[in-house]
Amino acid sequence: MPLAGIDYADPKKNNFVGKILMAAMLIALCILMLKQSPSFSTPSVFSRHESGVTHVLVTGGAGYIGSHAALRLLKDSYRVTIVDNLSRGNLGAVRILQELFPEPGKLQFLYADLGDAKAVHKIFSQNAFDAVMHFAAVAYVGESTLDPLKYYHNITSNTLTVLETMVTRGVPTLIYSSTCAMESLKRCRSQKLHRWLPINPYGKAKKMAEDIILDFHKNSNMAVMILRYFNVIGSDPNGRLGEAPRPELREHGRISGACFDAARGIIPGLKVRGTDYKTSDGTCIRDYIDVTDLVDAHVKALEKARPGKVGIYNVGTGRGRSVKEFVEACKVATGVPIKVDFLPRRPGDYAEVYSDPTKIRNELNWTAKYTDLQESLQVAWRWQKSHLNGYGSSMATS
Ligand SMILES: NC(=O)c1ccc[n+]([C@@H]2O[C@H](COP(=O)([O-])OP(=O)(O)OC[C@H]3O[C@@H](n4cnc5c(N)ncnc54)[C@H](O)[C@@H]3O)[C@@H](O)[C@H]2O)c1
Repeated sequence: MPLAGIDYADPKKNNFVGKILMAAMLIALCILMLKQSPSFSTPSVFSRHESGVTHVLVTGGAGYIGSHAALRLLKDSYRVTIVDNLSRGNLGAVRILQELFPEPGKLQFLYADLGDAKAVHKIFSQNAFDAVMHFAAVAYVGESTLDPLKYYHNITSNTLTVLETMVTRGVPTLIYSSTCAMESLKRCRSQKLHRWLPINPYGKAKKMAEDIILDFHKNSNMAVMILRYFNVIGSDPNGRLGEAPRPELREHGRISGACFDAARGIIPGLKVRGTDYKTSDGTCIRDYIDVTDLVDAHVKALEKARPGKVGIYNVGTGRGRSVKEFVEACKVATGVPIKVDFLPRRPGDYAEVYSDPTKIRNELNWTAKYTDLQESLQVAWRWQKSHLNGYGSSMATS
């Protein structure tokens, strides 16, 4: 009870008022900070078209090929938005790109799953894209035979979502990342559509995605380029980016990954399947394309894409190398005497698959420049050796 003549403050009431005041101050501070942040006061530069600037959405830009493509686009003064769910890619690759191109309006990374149509629509509604390079995909033949639905969903269905959203938002250009690895030899070389006979869910899912794009394109003014690659190898010659697949995917892996894993002793050696093919040394012949050349083909495709036109190109060197040649190049590039087991043929393998690059040379003025297998592998090996944990942590070895 307050004593007469002395005005005592009620401590409970005081505490309550203090809390209200503190909350109000905090809210005011937050509003002030938000107002001062560029994204509050002015719409992001990514959300509006700017004359002279081409804004490219690179899906799967945290992955092997996508990150190299983003690097090249950024070097060439494109504005880049990377969308990736990091299921297979590496945030480390995105961080390197952000460090290389810190200027505002150059690069943004958006974490999203292309299987989430709502998220995709939101991204397209908040950003003004001029083109899409669609790399995002699960991309292992072996895995696709074990989990085909994952492949149809991730490749075919997600491509449909991307395409529909592009139409809704009026994005004019699509560069689509396809594959040649499991096509019939005839189609791969002749680039004729009716010959494609993919033999596994990965190839079939890509073919369905291509078919959707081509059917849609018959009544559309969209500029479309479809690039079908062969075996991709190598990495950024300046050593900033590399190929760092998830360890659990190693068993489904690609040939260059197997070469490095064998050199590092992660796997006991390399297995060459089939030595009695009708080729110069009895092993299969394949076309290996360096990732630097591959991304150059994408940029040329983007530059040459025209409204209402569709271009389909095989991206390879045009020169086949035998598996034995590859293994020898791998040994020299790594300096490791890798153990090689020669095994019987694997069913379904073609003896020779290599591209006919005439069309891409004539129409896009593109030819492969990094055609020294050993050199490409050496560049990639340097990155592998200095990134034993991929993008997880860098550590140099002798
Ligand atoms: N590497 C090759 O030899 C080769 C050959 C032919 C074609 N391709 C094609 O090139 C493209 C890129 O292959 P890569 O070797 O860089 O593979 P990668 O696994 O390194 O990259 C794929 C990227 O896509 C992302 N991604 C996957 N599903 C996603 C989803 N639902 N939403 C958002 N992001 C998703 C992954 O996180 C990853 O970063 C693929 O479309 C693949 O089919 C690759």
